[in-house]
Amino acid sequence: MSGPDACFVLYCRSGYETDLSTECEYHLADKSSYGYTKYEKNSGLIALYTPTPELMPAIDDIVFARQKLRFLQSLTFVDKSDRITPVIDALHHTKKDYYGSVIVEHADNERAKSMAKFCRKFTVPLRSALRNHGILSKKHDDNKKWLHLVFDSFDQCMICESTVGDRSPHSQGINRLKFPTAAPSRSTLKLEEAIALFFDKDSEKAFFNNTKTAVDLGACPGGWTFQLVSRGMKVEAVDNGDIATSLMDTGLVHHFKTDGFVYKPLHGKVNWLVCDMIENPHRVGELIIKWIQEGWANGAIFNLKLPMKNRFATVKDILLTINKRVNPKSNMQIRAKHLYHDRDEITVLIMPK
Ligand SMILES: C[S@@+](CC[C@H](N)C(=O)[O-])C[C@H]1O[C@@H](n2cnc3c(N)ncnc32)[C@H](O)[C@@H]1O
Repeated sequence: MSGPDACFVLYCRSGYETDLSTECEYHLADKSSYGYTKYEKNSGLIALYTPTPELMPAIDDIVFARQKLRFLQSLTFVDKSDRITPVIDALHHTKKDYYGSVIVEHADNERAKSMAKFCRKFTVPLRSALRNHGILSKKHDDNKKWLHLVFDSFDQCMICESTVGDRSPHSQGINRLKFPTAAPSRSTLKLEEAIALFFDKDSEKAFFNNTKTAVDLGACPGGWTFQLVSRGMKVEAVDNGDIATSLMDTGLVHHFKTDGFVYKPLHGKVNWLVCDMIENPHRVGELIIKWIQEGWANGAIFNLKLPMKNRFATVKDILLTINKRVNPKSNMQIRAKHLYHDRDEITVLIMPK
């Protein structure tokens, strides 16, 4: 006889709940299991139930998930003057120093935004009480589970936990980046977030430095080129528009006013192809496949603009095609994420393992 189904709480961009649900259900069905979901539209969060929690994909393998939490229990606060005691009571069975951090948060939706200040303020006394009761380690610890309190209103929260290697390190699963004032467009944050997600600091330095070259398709006004040039790279920027003068003045950028679908690298090959062209995602997928197959670039980071409907089906279709065509020997890594700074688009990485 099987026990009750396990429940996960997953965050996404508000409006993408159906896509995230469909994606998780697809992965579980693919492993001959199943999951069912409950969510409110535009809530920025889904609850997923499954009898086989061990078959849930890791957060890195769920394109539309910003965070993946295991749900433990719900709490309703009767006495608004003391929300700490019920949390401590709920966790009193927990082993000593079980959690390495506590995050008090709310889903990223319009209604819950009013909770932001409360969540920040509540964290400090809660953290101290959890430490006094031996539930939370004395110092922040990345190698332990983290406790998450997800508030839906001032009277209710969900107690959840995240696991090592299977979580976003950021509150709400959001890497909020400061806009670099010298960058010519806000799009710059998409590439910055992608590099921060897909690379640790050491590998970032190894793959993006002044010995590396790139082609940037759909480069104008130069936000992505800015990220590459800031790391000392030489960039061939391809777009019919204008590139910011500040970037041209670095001497690291060659600008080509031509169609990104016909451009070939000046010297036959570059280290990176990046592409943010607003074009049909299937067409962009085919173009990236061509660049990797021809050996024009070792790796690629690119955006796929999403259609209004069947977004997960489109993403699945293109990623499966890319995987089949550029990765028959499984020697490439292919990762995709709906980033916080992405809007109706996802960001994909392809590079040798
Ligand atoms: C979202 S903007 C790129 C923003 C840029 N990544 C940045 O950070 O500043 C999309 C760009 O794609 C360009 N584009 C669209 N189709 C293109 C094509 N076929 N060839 C070259 N550029 C194209 C547009 O001219 C536009 O400048």
